[in-house]
Amino acid sequence: MKIVEQIKEPIRLEMELFEKKFHESMSSKVALLNRITYYIVNRKGKQMRPMFVFLVAKMVAEGKVNERTYRGASVIELIHTATLVHDDVVDDSNRRRGFFSINALWKNKIAVLVGDYLLSKGLLLSIDNEDFDLLKIISVAVREMSEGELLQIEKARKLDITEEVYYEIIRQKTATLIAACCSLGACSVHPDSEQVEQMRKFGELIGMAFQIKDDLFDYTNGPIGKPTGIDIKEQKMTLPLIYTLNIVAKKERDWLINSVKTHNKNKKRVKEVIAFVKESGGLEYATQKMMAFKQEALDILKTYPDSPYKEALELMVDYVIERKK
Ligand code: IPE
Ligand code: IPE
Ligand code: MG
Ligand code: MG
Repeated sequence: MKIVEQIKEPIRLEMELFEKKFHESMSSKVALLNRITYYIVNRKGKQMRPMFVFLVAKMVAEGKVNERTYRGASVIELIHTATLVHDDVVDDSNRRRGFFSINALWKNKIAVLVGDYLLSKGLLLSIDNEDFDLLKIISVAVREMSEGELLQIEKARKLDITEEVYYEIIRQKTATLIAACCSLGACSVHPDSEQVEQMRKFGELIGMAFQIKDDLFDYTNGPIGKPTGIDIKEQKMTLPLIYTLNIVAKKERDWLINSVKTHNKNKKRVKEVIAFVKESGGLEYATQKMMAFKQEALDILKTYPDSPYKEALELMVDYVIERKK
């Protein structure tokens, strides 16, 4: 059995029902919007975030979930989808999940509005059902994601990013949403328990590993369903490059910075930078850091009693690191 199938096994029914509810949560009276959301739900992603929500909820509550868990999973996936639609505008990216991105098909104007629509539908789903504790978790994540993306842009402009700032960026833009999945999963079944904070930390650590993996993908040319090599084009300096800048001599450092600063749209030059980072061991270094986050996450899981859900979460942690897209 494929690893993803194995992970989904203990939450198969929940994921099936989730998909139905998720689709319904997007409906609108505006035909154009329905066309676009139809396009979106037919090109679904890995759905790792709802998987985290259900697995954590079931782990902490002996296999039980409730309507709050379902709504929480839908809200998170709505918000995730909204941020991807916006992110492709911000990153000027024309592919997502193996197909054209929303901005590529309908232009930026529409993509911005569709992202806002999905975000508001997510928040309203919580509000209408008075899931205020879950709404708080989600709203913190939304704020942090925006801050993370903006901090990233600020650093891309100044090209003065350090390893510490890189971790802060990925914590905000990616890890907080995965942290929200895990704390929300726990909160949906056991509000006000210690597990809520513990699971938030677990999600945050695994989210860090998740984004380092995503940044490593950008240095490959594997078919991952979205463009590769675009981080440098967008002047995003990620861990492999940051490490390389830290270990090379001034001459090489100047060449690297200059490449990102003024030759970032030159495909040949970007390829040279990528090759240079690879030769310098940048990918190995980033992989090692990713593994360290993974280990810390696993250490938290170890404190929970054995169950099929815990086992699936352990597999999920491996999947974050081993995944091919
Ligand atoms: C992509 O997330 C955005 C990042 C935080 C790197 P996913 O890789 O989970 O996207 P989908 O939902 O599977 O397409
Ligand atoms: C993900 O960063 C950040 C989000 C909050 C969406 P990226 O820009 O690296 O994500 P991808 O690679 O486009 O999915
Ligand atoms: Mg992007
Ligand atoms: Mg990326």
